Amino acid sequence: MAIADEELTYPGPAGSECPWPLLEKLRAEASVYELPYRPGVYVVSRYADVRYILGNPQLFSSGGVRAQLSGFDLIDVPSEDDRVMNESDDPAHALKRRIGFAPLKPGRLKSYEPLILDLVDELIDRFVDDGRVEFVNQFAQPLPARLTCRLMGVPLEDEDFVRSWGRFESSGLAWMDDEFKQRQRSNSAKMLEYLTKLIQARHEDPQDDVISAVIKEQVDRDNEFHLADVRAQCAILIGGGVVTTAHFLSSCMRMLVDDPTQMARIRSDFKLIPNMLEEGLRLEPPSMWQPRIALQNVEVGGHKIPAGSFLLMMFCSANRDDRKFESPTHFDVTRKKAKEHLSFGYGAHFCLGAPLARLEMKIGFERLLTRLDNIRFGPNNDFKHIPSASFRGFHHLQLEFDTTPVS
Ligand code: HEM
Repeated sequence: MAIADEELTYPGPAGSECPWPLLEKLRAEASVYELPYRPGVYVVSRYADVRYILGNPQLFSSGGVRAQLSGFDLIDVPSEDDRVMNESDDPAHALKRRIGFAPLKPGRLKSYEPLILDLVDELIDRFVDDGRVEFVNQFAQPLPARLTCRLMGVPLEDEDFVRSWGRFESSGLAWMDDEFKQRQRSNSAKMLEYLTKLIQARHEDPQDDVISAVIKEQVDRDNEFHLADVRAQCAILIGGGVVTTAHFLSSCMRMLVDDPTQMARIRSDFKLIPNMLEEGLRLEPPSMWQPRIALQNVEVGGHKIPAGSFLLMMFCSANRDDRKFESPTHFDVTRKKAKEHLSFGYGAHFCLGAPLARLEMKIGFERLLTRLDNIRFGPNNDFKHIPSASFRGFHHLQLEFDTTPVS
């Protein structure tokens, strides 16, 4: 099937505002599509095919995939130990994942609830009397950044630094210009330096925080401290959750405010909030796609893929595949099986932070909807998304509301 060059704007910042018509066309007519301008790179757009790739890591590797796809190393990775878990394959991946999981175990997660509640209420306190809020900068971005700082043991005055950490393009770097790449490389160096100091301090003087928990887990496993491994896993625990959660909070709020019927359903039963989040994630994944490399000649959706090819798994398209979801573009907070979306990935690399993100977003919406009534769009919203190759989120979202008594 021929797709005109000018139509092929996604992946890439140029097409990030509205990739949906192109993705629909690909799903219908060219579900595994080799990009003419990047031979050997295939866009995979149907649900069954994306899930097949995610479910077969022995055929489709994550090993160093993002640097290989962009031909650009953000950081030097001198050894396998220095790789972050989502850039490794098993068995190394499983070992790294285990040390990253320590601070996110269900028991520990439960203990974070009071902190999350405090952070959410503190942010709402700052704007609740104004009757309006610029939601992206006053709530959606600071919440995950502050939570990450508090959990990791990063000083709160470095919140802005942590926020910038999350603004990384790693999967989509190939589609960004040279200036962006160089800026990102120098930011990476600063972050690694910062993290190195913090980890060394925690190694000498452990605290009740995530960095200390990761160090303990790594030392228990290997009987000696290995800075590079700890640093890589802490880097993704920080970077993985800040921008994704922030983008999604705003996207989900926009969908809800835009649809009074769904808003009324949620307001009448807060128990629907977790399903609303899954349904929102299905329609507006903050991380739109992720890459893999074929380890051998393989077939995907009936297409022959040579070994060494890159496969771009379009979660954003898979989630709107009508072979899987009925009326896929409809936002329905009561949709059954909404949770089967692929926005957190699937299988071996399934998002390690998903339970934390779900908890944080649930508490966030519960408190917002309790304390803000009649939420509506404010003036001057352009609903423009950031120009990114792989992330999706708003620059700004102006809201107005009536205040309800605190409860
Ligand atoms: C709405 C919020 C989030 C979304 C949509 C999201 C999305 C994803 C996706 C799609 C993957 C799989 C990547 C792949 O298969 O290549 C992933 C992996 C990961 N995420 Fe998240 N994430 C979110 C929040 C978080 C948070 C809060 C954290 C940290 C606390 C986190 C940490 C991680 C880690 C460590 C991995 C790598 C897992 C592995 O490779 O085994 N994420 N995330």
